[in-house]
Amino acid sequence: MNDITSQELTELVEVIRKKTGLDFSNYGEKSLKRRIVSSSNTLGLKSVAQLRDKITKDDQFIHQLVNLLSVGLTTMFRDPELWVRLRPELKEMAERKKKIRVWHAGCSTGEEVFTLNIILEELGVRESFRGVATDMNEDSLETAKKGLYSHEVIKEYNQQYTLYKRRGFLDKYYQQADDSVQMDLRLTENVKFRKNNLISETMNEKFDLILCRNVMIYFDTIAKKALLEKFHKNLMTNGLLVTGYHDSIVPILDPDLYEVKDMKHRIFAKKGI
Ligand SMILES: C[S@@+](CC[C@H](N)C(=O)[O-])C[C@H]1O[C@@H](n2cnc3c(N)ncnc32)[C@H](O)[C@@H]1O
Repeated sequence: MNDITSQELTELVEVIRKKTGLDFSNYGEKSLKRRIVSSSNTLGLKSVAQLRDKITKDDQFIHQLVNLLSVGLTTMFRDPELWVRLRPELKEMAERKKKIRVWHAGCSTGEEVFTLNIILEELGVRESFRGVATDMNEDSLETAKKGLYSHEVIKEYNQQYTLYKRRGFLDKYYQQADDSVQMDLRLTENVKFRKNNLISETMNEKFDLILCRNVMIYFDTIAKKALLEKFHKNLMTNGLLVTGYHDSIVPILDPDLYEVKDMKHRIFAKKGI
């Protein structure tokens, strides 16, 4: 398979949504098309018709496909409304404490890390924040550290930023490089990138804010529960945990460990000390 049309993409996204409840319609069209084509080739499918047929009939297959599609998929200012909602929380943290610690758990290629730090920069509080950004994928971590993104994706990120900010672009935060853009690495000088597997490893640090978004989607209930317990230990008193909408942790959330601070944006506060 070489390419798919926008019409075919819309139809496929709808079939996947109906079958799994997962909505890929908010993902950048070009990158999603690229991933569908490469995933189909990996799975040995030769045409969109064959792909659609497999998706409709083979539940095992759809899980494989969705895994391939989602791993690493990320964007700057993903869920713009969430970042608007977090802004006053971040400000309030900086007023309350001198040093605030953040863990980006499952940071992929670093877009969320740049997002947060751009917001902190614009709030004038970046100096107070220290971050740790982890992922199990070393290639992704390398990209995150370098802050090099293609022209194609940066266009999408600019659109996301405009949705968040209601105006403006990100161009003051990057410079043109050969075939990509180079993010201003001063934004992430306060962040340490580290390899970590959320299922099999632990972190011996405490954080005021843990962002773990769109990572637990494919974890089973046992793994999700275990990770939520780990995060509870890694949070300071009153610390916040933010997950992705589709991480589906609400039904398994232990009310002794967390209280829901904002259901819509999946923001939870640690209970206890
Ligand atoms: C879809 S991306 C999400 C990136 C970012 N958090 C966001 O919301 O845009 C999921 C990331 O989780 C990472 N991941 C998946 N399972 C993991 C695990 N067990 N430990 C650490 N990282 C994991 C993947 O490597 C991938 O980079």
